[in-house]
Amino acid sequence: MIIDYVSLIRIAFEARERSLCPYSGFAVGAAVLCKSGEVYTGCNIECGSYSATVCAERVAIFKALSEGETDFTAIAIVGGNVDDEITDYCPPCGTCRQVLSEYCDADDFEIILAKSLDEYEIYSLSQLLPLAFTFA
Ligand code: THU
Repeated sequence: MIIDYVSLIRIAFEARERSLCPYSGFAVGAAVLCKSGEVYTGCNIECGSYSATVCAERVAIFKALSEGETDFTAIAIVGGNVDDEITDYCPPCGTCRQVLSEYCDADDFEIILAKSLDEYEIYSLSQLLPLAFTFA
């Protein structure tokens, strides 16, 4: 691991500051750590045509993939109402779980859900998305 998970969580909090969430008022930030050592951030980006909204996690992983990254170590995720202190974990939605499962290892990739820099939980994809759909 090139940067520690507390640093990755801090970066996810910074990304959350850039959330564009005028419709839900729910701001999410994510930071993906690649095995290369690079970190890619994402925030949720909402659209008035609601289904075009993209979650923070997918913004982050798509940025990484589109830059040629192929191996991933972890993602840190933070989310909550835009004007409030974060009090709950923000687990990734089903669509994001599916996307992560397509590009990240089921057991060798860590999903860090954080409320603060010192309150976080770590899960694997096999825990969050058992029996994942694969197309083979
Ligand atoms: N959201 C995320 O960014 N990630 C998730 O995993 C769940 C939901 C965003 C989408 C939308 O902008 C807002 O949170 C409320 O659903």
